[in-house]
Formats: sequence, structure tokens, C-alpha cells
Amino acid sequence: MSVKTIYPRAGLKGEVRVPGDKSISHRSVMFGSIALGTTEITNFLQGADCLSTIHCFQKMGIEIEKKKEGLVVHGRGLYGLSAPKETLNVGNSGTTTRLLSGILAGQGFASVLSGDESLNSRPMGRIMTPLSRMGAHIESVGSNGCAPLKIEPGALHGISYQSPVASAQVKSAILLAGLYADGDTSVTEPALSRNHTELMLGGFGAEIVSVLHEDGSATAGVRPCKQLYGQRILVPGDISSAAYFIAAGLLSQGSELLICNVGINPTRAGILKVCEAMGGDITYVNCRDMGGEPTADILVRFSELRGTTVEGRMIPTLIDEIPIIAVMAACAKGTTVIKDAAELKVKETNRIDTVTENLKAMGCDATPTEDGMIIEGGKKLVGARIRSYLDHRIAMAFAVAGLLAEGETVIEDSQCVDVSYPEFFDTLSSLT
Ligand code: S3P
Repeated sequence: MSVKTIYPRAGLKGEVRVPGDKSISHRSVMFGSIALGTTEITNFLQGADCLSTIHCFQKMGIEIEKKKEGLVVHGRGLYGLSAPKETLNVGNSGTTTRLLSGILAGQGFASVLSGDESLNSRPMGRIMTPLSRMGAHIESVGSNGCAPLKIEPGALHGISYQSPVASAQVKSAILLAGLYADGDTSVTEPALSRNHTELMLGGFGAEIVSVLHEDGSATAGVRPCKQLYGQRILVPGDISSAAYFIAAGLLSQGSELLICNVGINPTRAGILKVCEAMGGDITYVNCRDMGGEPTADILVRFSELRGTTVEGRMIPTLIDEIPIIAVMAACAKGTTVIKDAAELKVKETNRIDTVTENLKAMGCDATPTEDGMIIEGGKKLVGARIRSYLDHRIAMAFAVAGLLAEGETVIEDSQCVDVSYPEFFDTLSSLT
């Protein structure tokens, strides 16, 4: 087991450049592979999850070249994938599994997807139900609603699907299958989840419709597609990775950090609103557009934070940031309530449990609830042995907590950060 020891530190100064966005990196390889021609991707995230996506498409005959500044994908068109000779290994990646299932449902060959222990225990019924309704032949090999998944050829029909969850993975799987359907396909979700698929698929030439309804629900639709065409993709920095440094800069006394080149798409940027509601000093510099994705440099300065409530439609816009929001809450004055976030239970770990367990280990009064947690902030954290349970976001959130604690904090299985941010610990220790 790899461990990292974190010692308390204040006065963090400097500039941080976080790696490319994970969600956008996955999509750029997937869409590039099923587009005709070359897709050049700059600032691609070379994390383990995105490498799983690359390997799956290589196994289906797609040539993908690694370059210094990114990747070149030699796409073979909507029907250009070839049958994989072996099981496609999706590793730890839910995004690879669910989005790829949507693509595979439209192919004329059979395939099997399988991942690691955590991945193979996450719910896949949420994509199997709508894809089956479209005519896909998709089954859970162990009949437990989880991967391994077996997908066989089936003629796809357009559907209008009411998704019970606000999930970009579910929405994207359906839209991707919809490219191969014989009629229009739409997905309505209870709240708008990240919209990178809609933005990027549109750029590749798909006909996409997006509607935000008055009650906060959202519909995305796609027309059957004849062909997608290769694009140039510039991947902005990942706000989910920036989140650890935003929190470190706000929480650690005397700090001032500039986090450069961060994607701030409003469907992802809920953490920034939470920081502001908690009294965080945040300035946006150099706001710009990167291929349809709003991007900025973010300047954060040490601030006295206060507790807040995080709930409702905001949850899908910050779902991956809840572990680090919980750490901020533990250091803030007063109570923070996180609710409407039952989705936390089906992430890489049950993050309601793994967050509250580790906060308690550091002396914080944290109570798990059915759909979130309640955190009484303001008590000095004490260093502890943190169980990451191989969940990258738990490891990184509690490394930041370690900077603020008394004594030393040990992060178990720290290598799991490779999933989304291989250079995380180096960057953290480079801040003087
Ligand atoms: C992702 C969507 C989210 C998020 C995950 C990446 C994506 O999952 O938690 O890390 O790239 O579409 P859900 O769609 O299950 O909420």
C-alpha cells in the first residue's frame, strides 16, 4: 500500500495549473473515435480513467497517438469500430462504462465491458433500462445490475426518456445510442447535469437540442446521425481537480493561490457558488471561452468561512466536489447541511460514509444522513490515518484537510489519485 504523510502548512502561495478536465477528455476520445477523420486533443488528461477509455477504443481498432501536448485520434466514423477480441477493461471508470455502453449498443458486434471491484459494484440498471427500451441487447453478466455488461447487436429506436436521476453519464449513454437510432431521442432529467456531451457532440456535427424547463428539469435531444466529423479539442483544466487548491487557498491562513485555466461551465461550477456563500474571497481573472466551455483563472485568498446549506438543483453541479466541500465545512464556523445528494452513495465509494468516517477520525462532528451529511464546523482538526478506500477524491480532499490539522495525517492507498490527478501530491508539496 502506498501512503503519503501530510504535515500542517500555512501561507500557501503561487500558481497552480491543474490537468485537463476528466469528463471532457473522455468525451473527446470517444467522439473522436466514432467521427470521420482526425481529432486533435490538446491538454488531454493522462489519468488512469481516461487511459481506460483510450485502451477500449484501441481494442476496437482505433489508432490513437500520444503527443507531447495531447492526443491525435484517427476516427473511423460512426460505424468504423471493429469487434474487440477480448473483454474491454474499463478499470475504475464509471464514465467509460456508461458512455461506451451507449456507443456499443449501436454497433453490429457483441462486446463485454468489465472493470475493477469498485466499478463492478456500481449500478448499471440506470443505463440498462433506457438502452433496453431503445431496443439494445444489454445484460448484466452476473444478473446483479452491475458490470460485467454484455452488449449484443440490436436495432435502436428513438425514445423520450424521463430519467429518475440527474446524471450526465445516463444522459450521455442515451444520447450516444440515439445517434444510431431510427428516430429522435430525448432525455429529461430532474435537474441539469453537466452538459459537455451536448456541447461537444454538437461540435462534431450531431443535431442536439437542449431545453431548460421552468421547474428546473432539463431535456436534451439528439437526431439520428449519418456521420460525425473530427475536430480540434482544447480541454480546459478540471474544476474538480482545481477544487482541492481552491479549498487549500481559502482555508490555509495567509494563503493566496492563482489556479490557472479552469473550466467554469455553470453545470460544473457549483463549488464556486458554495465557496462564495461560505464567505470565500474568490476573483475570476482572464475569463474566456475554450471551444464552447467557459474558462477562467481563479484567484483565491485565505478567508474566514461560515457554514452553509448545499442542496437541490445545485447538487449535480458539484457532486464530485462534495468531499472537499465537507472538508471546508469542517473548518468553517457553524453548521453545514448537505442534502439531496443520495447519488454520493454510488460513486467510487459510498462517499456519505467515507467522508463522514474520515472527518470523525480527524475530530470533526460529522453525521451521515440518508441523502447527505451534517457537519458542525469550527473545531481544529487533528491529524489522523485516513482510509481512502482507493477513492481518488477522498485521498485528495483529506490531504487538504491534513494541511489544516494539528499533527500529521497519513493518507492510505494514496496512489489512487492517479485516476484523475497523477501529479496531485507533487503540486501540493510545491506550494511554498
Ligand atoms: C461524469 C458525471 C458524473 C460524475 C462523474 C463524471 C461524466 O457522474 O460524478 O465523475 O463525465 O459524465 P453521474 O453522471 O453518475 O452523476
